[in-house]
Amino acid sequence: MTHHEFRKTRDIFITKDVFSENYSPEVPIERDDEIDEYMTALEDSLFGDQPSNILTYGKTGVGKTVVTKYVLNLLVETATERDVDIEYFEVNCGSNQTSYQVALSLLNKIRAQTGQSPLNRGYGFSEVMSRLYEQIESLDATVYVMIDEIDYLGGDDRILYELPRAYKNGYLDTSFVGVIGISNDYSYRQNLSSKVKDTLQEREIRFPPYNASELQSILRERASEGMKSGVVGNGVIEQCAALGARDTGSARQAIDLLREAGNVAEEASAGEVEVSHVEHAKERVKRGRIRDGVTDLTDSGLMVLHAVASLARSGETPTRLKSIVSVYEEIATHYGRRPLGESRIRDHVGDLTMLGFVTEERKNLGRAGGQFYQYSLAVDSDLVYDVVSERLS
Ligand SMILES: Nc1ncnc2c1ncn2[C@@H]1O[C@H](COP(=O)(O)OP(=O)(O)OP(=O)(O)O)[C@@H](O)[C@H]1O
Ligand SMILES: [Mg+2]
Repeated sequence: MTHHEFRKTRDIFITKDVFSENYSPEVPIERDDEIDEYMTALEDSLFGDQPSNILTYGKTGVGKTVVTKYVLNLLVETATERDVDIEYFEVNCGSNQTSYQVALSLLNKIRAQTGQSPLNRGYGFSEVMSRLYEQIESLDATVYVMIDEIDYLGGDDRILYELPRAYKNGYLDTSFVGVIGISNDYSYRQNLSSKVKDTLQEREIRFPPYNASELQSILRERASEGMKSGVVGNGVIEQCAALGARDTGSARQAIDLLREAGNVAEEASAGEVEVSHVEHAKERVKRGRIRDGVTDLTDSGLMVLHAVASLARSGETPTRLKSIVSVYEEIATHYGRRPLGESRIRDHVGDLTMLGFVTEERKNLGRAGGQFYQYSLAVDSDLVYDVVSERLS
């Protein structure tokens, strides 16, 4: 007989699924303005007009994906009721990082829907595009293509240039295609090639970060779906919303925080989520996020961060670039890597600063002397050592 026993009942959660990334609320909350903008842009196609192309942008976690899908589903439902042919397909550039992959994946989605087997790789971009046009044409409909996370395309934005012009360029005759590109990087939007801008920026829809009161509404809905009634203590929703709004205004982050607070409460068998559990959860979520970020670094970036961490441990921070370089060289040699030169290390330190893992401080050497920078570690050194030992040794 084992003394290990699984929990028989839950104190806090009805289901944790509603806190997960793939859960979509039935109707997005607090996004009526953005939904209206979308509906205005899309409704002409219900009356047979050419569809608009739309560029949607806003920071991570502000509801771009969830709202876009909601509106497109609503459009297709309405079209069906009114006997108009509108369809939509979705591709994500996070998993298809070139225009070629996006085109192929889109083509195969349409083929799958019409019962055809997928086309293999091995065709050139223009061949894939012309087959894609054939497929779209045979749908005999207005086809919206939602291209999510377009930032991953980097400079390879051919698909964003080609698709919106298909009708104008004579590739389509009985079908229309409208593109909805979604970006979470404001500068990527500005750096799109001017050819792409001309077509894609016919309409722009901006998603601002959520404020505290909007996050409260979103969290209340999630809590009512996923947590038992009466278990969310006073001030808990308010606290999660305030922290989320002060940080990035991301619903994803606020929802993570509430779920984690629920976990803390359940582990403590507290019977109720309290504000102190939120504080605890905040540390866990933050740690998890930093760990993900550190884990995403390249080996060189990680070794440079390791150098700063080891200087921090021995009390030598704030430190100058020279010291980072020499400690880094020892570390690289220790792990059997050829050390990078000083200017590459300077770039890595710059990246680490931007990511918030390192802080920099400018020092002036008085009136005659120039200036220099000093660096400190901005994250927990244990965490850096953990990731280093998982990855490098
Ligand atoms: N208005 C909302 N109502 C309810 N839930 C929301 C709302 N906005 C966002 N969420 C939830 O927050 C999470 C993130 O939303 P979403 O994926 O739409 O963000 P995003 O803007 O597409 O972010 P990213 O740029 O990282 O892709 C999802 O779990 C989603 O269900
Ligand atoms: Mg998204």
